[in-house]
Amino acid sequence: MDMLEIILAKRFGQELNAEQIAYFIDGVTDKSIPDYQISSLLMAIVLNGMTRAEMTELTMRMAYSGEICDLSGIQGTKVDKHSSGGVGDKCTLIVLPMVAACGVPVAKLSGRGLGFTGGTIDKLESIQGFRTAIPVSSFVEQIRKAGMVLSGQTPELAPADKVLYALRDVTGTVQSIPLIASSIMSKKIAGGADAIVLDVTCGHGSFMKDEASARDLSQAMIQIGQLAGRPVTCVISSMDQPLGRSVGNALEVMEAYDTLCGKGPADVVEVCCTLAAAMLMRSDYGREMTFEEAFSTAELVLADGRARDAFERFILAQGGTVQPDGSPAYTDLPVACASICAQEEGYISGLNALMIGEASMILGAGRRTKDDIIDKGAGITLEKKIGSFVRKGDKIADFYRGKNAVLSESSIQQAVQLVQKAVTLSADAVPAGKDILAILDEHSF
Ligand code: URA
Repeated sequence: MDMLEIILAKRFGQELNAEQIAYFIDGVTDKSIPDYQISSLLMAIVLNGMTRAEMTELTMRMAYSGEICDLSGIQGTKVDKHSSGGVGDKCTLIVLPMVAACGVPVAKLSGRGLGFTGGTIDKLESIQGFRTAIPVSSFVEQIRKAGMVLSGQTPELAPADKVLYALRDVTGTVQSIPLIASSIMSKKIAGGADAIVLDVTCGHGSFMKDEASARDLSQAMIQIGQLAGRPVTCVISSMDQPLGRSVGNALEVMEAYDTLCGKGPADVVEVCCTLAAAMLMRSDYGREMTFEEAFSTAELVLADGRARDAFERFILAQGGTVQPDGSPAYTDLPVACASICAQEEGYISGLNALMIGEASMILGAGRRTKDDIIDKGAGITLEKKIGSFVRKGDKIADFYRGKNAVLSESSIQQAVQLVQKAVTLSADAVPAGKDILAILDEHSF
């Protein structure tokens, strides 16, 4: 078999067979296929799509490109969570401790930032000493210690996804239902969880721009889950504006910590309680609960400090440093370097999450190439959200760089101009908008 033939087949819209997909993933894993040919096939997949059969084959080959994590040493149903990516999406940092606080064991593999979206691993690395490379062989022990474990993609688990993920980020090939579905589901299958809850984001700041595509992606992942014997729940959440008020690595960990202390923004709390409820309902602990009961349980662990305590145990178990009050100690602190204010009175009608995510990247919070080094302190905070009323001169956003980072004035100005464009005002009152658009599972289709 020849890689060029496979590229040409997909370029002309043909369905790839199981042998071709196996050849591709084997060559990605053993590095025998050069990056330029991998990227070329990825682009052909973006442009011409994949059938359900191709997508399932690709997912299973990617999942089995490395080890499959054996979590059988931990009693009970293990539930995993993943997001299709967003701007200001710090939910993993909040939801996992909430679920662990209910005694449900959680093992999760997370990614780095992809395109304009942030990644949980980059966020956690803004905490001093935090170890994100936990070998699979230590998962069971970590869960025994802290009730949860979160690791960056280890070389052993879904190594093919690791290669594809990094290349997609820098070749304009992120936005594709088959590539996103196979990337997410391969990691979840290799991660060894029994059930999976997926946050499928939808809107400007997501790879899925409208609800119809978010539903298509959800359906693809639910069906792959059914074939792999791992039940999947998808929560479709809105990502037209950034989630919460902070975008950037350390800034988002700070907001996550505030949320765990019961002081989170309403949208973050709503999305996190919904995801936690969906996870609880897939676990032995909450299997008999109604959604309302599971949601109230999630609210309770946020309010009574149990989720905060679980977060602290998790940070310490993975080598991170906490301050005497229990909050994380950061590698670099955000320092404000600019702000923007309303130029006139009105209601905020748009806060384009894509533009705000890109502005945050310009400040240094994300990568343009796979070797870029992130400024952990860089990012943006929003004083106002869609629906807020502003008077002329009211602050809308602050811009940050890390205390020890160097950032040019022209980059700051570029980021400021982008956020100015991202904000739209209306003379008429604007509703705040829905945070949760749908909850889907195997019974929904
Ligand atoms: N998250 C992933 O793990 N993979 C993608 O392709 C997109 C979001």
